[in-house]
Amino acid sequence: MERFARLAAQALNTVLETPITATDLESPPDPKMGDFGFPCFKLSKIFRKGPPQVAQEITSQLQAAAALEKVGAGMITVAAVGPYVNFTVARDETLKALLGDILAGEGNGSYGSLTARSRGKWVLEYSSPNVAKPFNIYHLRPTALGAALDRIGRFRGYDMVGINHLGDWGTQYGKLAVAFREYGQNLPADPSIEDLVQIYVKFHAEAETNPKLEDEARLAFLKLEQGDAEMTALWKKCVDISMREFERLYARLGVKFDHIWGESYYKDLLPGLLVDLKKRGLLVESEGAQVVEVSDAEGKAMPPCIMQKTDGATIYATRDVAAALYRFEKFSFDRMTYVVGGEQRLHFQQIFAVLRRMGADWVSRCEHVPTGLYRFKDAKMSTRKGNFITLDEVLELSRTKVKELMRAREAQKGEAGLSEAELDTVAEAIGVGAVVFHDLHTDPARDVEFDIDRVVDFEGETGPYLQYAHTRCLSILRKARESGEMPKGELFQAGVVARLEKDEELALVKTLGQFPLHLERTLQFGKASQLAHYLIDVTRVFGGFYRECKVLGEAPELTRARLMLVESTRRVLAQGLSLMGIKLPERM
Ligand code: ARG
Repeated sequence: MERFARLAAQALNTVLETPITATDLESPPDPKMGDFGFPCFKLSKIFRKGPPQVAQEITSQLQAAAALEKVGAGMITVAAVGPYVNFTVARDETLKALLGDILAGEGNGSYGSLTARSRGKWVLEYSSPNVAKPFNIYHLRPTALGAALDRIGRFRGYDMVGINHLGDWGTQYGKLAVAFREYGQNLPADPSIEDLVQIYVKFHAEAETNPKLEDEARLAFLKLEQGDAEMTALWKKCVDISMREFERLYARLGVKFDHIWGESYYKDLLPGLLVDLKKRGLLVESEGAQVVEVSDAEGKAMPPCIMQKTDGATIYATRDVAAALYRFEKFSFDRMTYVVGGEQRLHFQQIFAVLRRMGADWVSRCEHVPTGLYRFKDAKMSTRKGNFITLDEVLELSRTKVKELMRAREAQKGEAGLSEAELDTVAEAIGVGAVVFHDLHTDPARDVEFDIDRVVDFEGETGPYLQYAHTRCLSILRKARESGEMPKGELFQAGVVARLEKDEELALVKTLGQFPLHLERTLQFGKASQLAHYLIDVTRVFGGFYRECKVLGEAPELTRARLMLVESTRRVLAQGLSLMGIKLPERM
């Protein structure tokens, strides 16, 4: 469709003084109004006439000059609709162009991708859990969203750098190292994160009566910052124990990073950063600590940003400033996005302000995409102490529930069931997919309302529902092969699109045609919910098509044309879900 938009823009250029490009065109809310519209608001100011009148005049000019025909776009018609000049591409041309694009290539093809040239360097920081703590369900938000943006960014031609900014440095790791030295010998040979939590809690309990422990921990962190060998070895052990568990979860979610650069990665840069800040005269003393005074982009004062505590230790913010400088130096990125919980809004404003004061004008390329929390409907979960629910627990809950549902469905249909091993594989894909989809489908800034029955509902706006729609496409295609109606070789054939005469068929193709647009918007706003809602829309429109249009057993040309629609739908669903990190079972 982009080709047609370019032609429409070219035609506009023959009658207008101001240069127009395809990106100036919008997609009308109702596809019946046209395929793209040129808004006349800006020109209305220049011409000092109402936008509808301007739209009328441009339309008449285009028609009088036969502008579309002249640029070789006789297949496009034009009409003024309110303040817009709307362009409509002839039906057959639309079908041919879109289906041709979607069905090009093997497998899922490459429809929607934009990989010919790099669109710039994009550093994306996401997930970033804290070591020595279980992976909280709440950390799924920046993990699932970041990973989806990372995949979509690559698919759309950005040069992505995905970074996991692991929380692995700070005073608490001094405590942990001391705790490990004191109580580590009682732990199992292969300790888990829970074991680390247990010795950490024990440390705190004993520190109540023995304050010397606290001093020792402070000292331990200072030693750690200075590279002390014993402390470093203890700390490293704790990080390794955590990473082993995190890696297992990341594998389950299909999440991969280019770099796992935790806070500790920047430790050697911290002394230099403090010297630099001092040289620039930006460090001031406040209650014994070294701080930078900051204000927001509009000049409104914010709480000062602490860089060094009274005892000389650096803090979370110091590491973030160092990390940003390092990343810009290394990558000269065009965009840097931090996918991090919304409660850290002020923190990022402060970091950006410190960087601004250091003269880093590129800070305008940095953004924080805030994520919300989890709320549980289930009373048992919502009242749990400290609301501490792990991702592991939620995935297990979902997987078990899916297994139950599937066994119940089998019994209901009276079909031969899956073997236990097959069921396990499918339930893992559906159970994990359901949780991830539910998370991504919620606007990132809002809280996720978690009700397991709704999350795994095969009929709702859920992951399983989309996976099921995909298996339905697969099953139609499979039957077509069995009945010999599937053409050998390439499925696409331009000649048969004229057979697609129903509204539902055109509506489906146009909906599939919006896939690239929704991927682009997902990246623009940092919201995978954009793509999630679009995919739900695809299945809804596909449902409308399938109710109205019989695919198999029609005249061969019609069946072929409709099989082209089924395969196109399958490709868009498969691609869209994979980009969200959701696996596709063959049968459900
Ligand atoms: N580890 C932090 C937490 O769990 C998130 C880190 C976010 N990223 C950053 N650059 N500060 O709260």
